[in-house]
Amino acid sequence: MNSPVMQGLALNVPPYVKNARLIAWVADMAALCKPAAIHWCDGSDEEYQRLCQQLVDAGTFKPLNPAKRPNSFLAWSDPSDVARVEDRTYICSEKKEDAGPTNNWMAPAEMRQTLQPLFDGCMKGRTMYVVPFSMGPLGSHIAHIGVELSDSAYVAVNQKLMTRMGKAVYDVLGTDGEFVPCMHTVGAPLAEGEKDQTSWPCNPTTKYIVHYPETREIWSYGSGYGGNALLGKKCLALRIASTMGRDQGWLAEHMLILGVTNPQGKKYHVAAAFPSACGKTNFSMLVPPKGFEGWKVTTIGDDIAWIKPNADGKLYAINPEAGYFGVAPGTNTLTNPNCMASLNDNVIFTNVALTDDGDVWWEGMEQDAGNKPAHLVDWQGKDWTPAIAKETGAKAAHPNARFTVAATNNPALDPQWDDPAGVAIDAFIFGGRRSTTVPLVTEARNWTEGVYMAATMGSETTAAAFGAQGVVRRDPFAMLPFCGYNMSDYFQHWLNMEQRMSSQGHSLPPIFCVNWFRKNAEGKFVWPGFGENMRVLKWMIDRIEGQAAGTDTMFGVAPQYEELNWTGLDFTAEQFKTVTHIDKAAWVDELKLHDAHFEQLAYHLPQALVDTKAALQKRLQG
Ligand code: OXD
Ligand code: MN
Repeated sequence: MNSPVMQGLALNVPPYVKNARLIAWVADMAALCKPAAIHWCDGSDEEYQRLCQQLVDAGTFKPLNPAKRPNSFLAWSDPSDVARVEDRTYICSEKKEDAGPTNNWMAPAEMRQTLQPLFDGCMKGRTMYVVPFSMGPLGSHIAHIGVELSDSAYVAVNQKLMTRMGKAVYDVLGTDGEFVPCMHTVGAPLAEGEKDQTSWPCNPTTKYIVHYPETREIWSYGSGYGGNALLGKKCLALRIASTMGRDQGWLAEHMLILGVTNPQGKKYHVAAAFPSACGKTNFSMLVPPKGFEGWKVTTIGDDIAWIKPNADGKLYAINPEAGYFGVAPGTNTLTNPNCMASLNDNVIFTNVALTDDGDVWWEGMEQDAGNKPAHLVDWQGKDWTPAIAKETGAKAAHPNARFTVAATNNPALDPQWDDPAGVAIDAFIFGGRRSTTVPLVTEARNWTEGVYMAATMGSETTAAAFGAQGVVRRDPFAMLPFCGYNMSDYFQHWLNMEQRMSSQGHSLPPIFCVNWFRKNAEGKFVWPGFGENMRVLKWMIDRIEGQAAGTDTMFGVAPQYEELNWTGLDFTAEQFKTVTHIDKAAWVDELKLHDAHFEQLAYHLPQALVDTKAALQKRLQG
């Protein structure tokens, strides 16, 4: 269907949109979804303000007090639509084995048949926004373009903050450039003359977040929240991009990227993978503590890295995003001062609480103020007081409440964050949340051992999120919910990276494994974390520079107590031992869990990982 007029609906293609495939696709999708109007986003500030005002008029946005949070808004979602829906997320490859045992799968033809009637007329009574975005600096050889068609103005304004969105993308696309088509609907069509009864339309019963890796398409139905709806992030930049990376020889990773500059002005770049809720944003904006005068940490990205080998033998990384969609609760000036400073103006908040003077609040902010506010309106629009919270346990902000903010708000933004060439990676870090077993930091003795560490990493669940507390959920490479293909093939892809680089005479960056979350016998965290993680980061740099000998352990090379800079922190050798010692009995059990994990991933599991497991076992016994 190429007709520029669909059932009386003008396509209104702007003159600067010249990509024939894009125009034909928008026409086809308009014919399918039957919106009342089409809006081609140009990404201008004027458009952003207009759409925000529209969201205010619809009751979706509350403007915040301009004296406290200039040009900022608060949205409260439907209580049924508050997080990514992993059980409704599908990888629809032709073969089930290509999705692997860790993804939900349905055959593409069957999924298309399922979605067809849902998308037919799904945008009735709404506007279809055409949202063009570049994941990565515009025109970078590492970047890719996506176009999201969405019936949510909330999505359009979030994408303006989260991505390079707008007119310039059409210029990069030109007449025949490639883009990833991303279909999104809240799944709540309006009948003729019907008005929304809710300020957060969504489909409370039916949700599908679908990826077709072979045809590189995304179809999302029924949710307006976060990664379900802002399709550039987890859907394109991780699930689809990981399959592109597999096919094209690069890496799409759930990693922050930071720059660290020493007092002599030498700069290093580190990419670090942590599962959700392990303080990734905090680490990416780390403020060096006392004892690190002259050191600087700068943010390139807080969530995702695209990494490509270069002819000079180095791996270059970009942050495909241009903004942060971070978890608000727990964020304060002690845990992340740079983040708090990023949130002073031009922010969209979702599901945090509203103060009586028109500002925002979330759990954790009391650490800054010294006390909790006497009264709030919580994320569900109900009165909240400390007394009510004490009695009912009600949270003022939803635990997954978010802020959306442009990277340019970050005072610690790295000057190279938008460099189309990317930055050369000097080290990889993998870390989970483990109260026992995994030490504070070790360096893998070689690439394969590092891949093993990443492939077996895990995080303990909390009662609120996943049932029984303290259960270790394996989250290989922090990619469990985000890998667009079979996890064992993904491990092989990482192993292949070494063969590819070493065959050209190049070596790869070292891999470190960290755990900030070890607890003592009383169940208390021992390592202070946050800015103090700088001490570990500095040890890694010393290792890179050959200035720290470390000590060989069963699970890689660990620091000796004296190798860390302790100036400004009272942390005894005894405490250090608590966070670093290898408990043999615990590791016997841990390796059994690795076996079970590998059994689940048996299809195409690389032999090199099985061999590495055997070598670790031997060291443990030895
Ligand atoms: C995120 C996540 O939102 O990892 O970044 O869940
Ligand atoms: Mn993430």
